[in-house]
Amino acid sequence: MHKKSLYRLDTGFSITTKSVSFHFWNNNDIDNISCVFYHRSRLHKIFFKSNQLHINIFVSMEKTVTEAINYRRSVRIFKEHIELDTEKVKDCIKNATLAATSSNLQLWEFYHITDKAILNKMTKACLGQNAAKYSKQLLVVVARKDLWSKRAKANAAYLKSTLNGKPKTEYTKREKFALSYYEKLIPTVYTEFLGILGWLKYLVFQVVGLFKPIYRQTRNSDMRIVAHKSAGLAAQNFMISMAAIGYDTCPMEGSDTLRIKKILKLSRGAEINMVIGCGIRDEKGIYGERFRIPFKDVYFKV
Ligand SMILES: Cc1cc2nc3c(=O)[nH]c(=O)nc-3n(C[C@H](O)[C@H](O)[C@H](O)COP(=O)(O)O)c2cc1C
Repeated sequence: MHKKSLYRLDTGFSITTKSVSFHFWNNNDIDNISCVFYHRSRLHKIFFKSNQLHINIFVSMEKTVTEAINYRRSVRIFKEHIELDTEKVKDCIKNATLAATSSNLQLWEFYHITDKAILNKMTKACLGQNAAKYSKQLLVVVARKDLWSKRAKANAAYLKSTLNGKPKTEYTKREKFALSYYEKLIPTVYTEFLGILGWLKYLVFQVVGLFKPIYRQTRNSDMRIVAHKSAGLAAQNFMISMAAIGYDTCPMEGSDTLRIKKILKLSRGAEINMVIGCGIRDEKGIYGERFRIPFKDVYFKV
């Protein structure tokens, strides 16, 4: 699929890799290398010498899912001189919002930090961790269990909008179920009062569960887990999307979440799911070989 293209040399230089040619000029400033050929091909990292300059060239094209998953590592030191394209990071955050989410409630928010002063404050709140200190940008994934009612209403409103004003009497069984799911079932499960209601529901459901299969996760702590589960999936979507374009990340839960909430002016009900450091990996940024428990110890074919 690689297209061979040669560009006229005005000032600067051109190089030809196995599959594609590039033409560059430079302003004697490593941060300002420009590339006239923006090739939608696999990411290439080309390292060569020219006037003592070592130039890393990243050409954007997404990796396959498996390539991106293999490429993603927790990177704790990012290249100091390479900035990230904020719009590209934002696109990866859009991919995060496409993650699967419990009941499609999307109990999450994403805070994309690019401001240097706030990045510095965040480094302190992330306990001075390298992954925060060297980050060019940060993403804070926030779980918003408290928004369940608003999100359920948004789902119900969306469903109604797809029904084009059809009278209730003409709703199909599936349409009735979907609406009642957001208007009745979700409020039943999510409504809480000082943690007591959740426990009462839990006990009732345990008794009913003696006789038939039933949903049991109704306590406040259960619902928090539900929100964090989905937020975690969104975080993973983000990190894989970043890896796909050659950007690196490091998820962090080692942080002072209260301080982060203050920095981001978040409401009481918001919970920090994780902070994700972002940048381009430095050679020293990956601390070791990837270790995983042998697959046979975690895989069970039933
Ligand atoms: C929820 C979560 C929290 C993490 N918190 C931190 C952290 O605070 N600091 C850190 O350096 N790495 C953190 N990590 C990264 C893990 O240490 C890392 O994913 C693990 O060692 C596996 O390495 P890999 O991501 O390179 O495959 C976290 C990862 C996850 C999923």
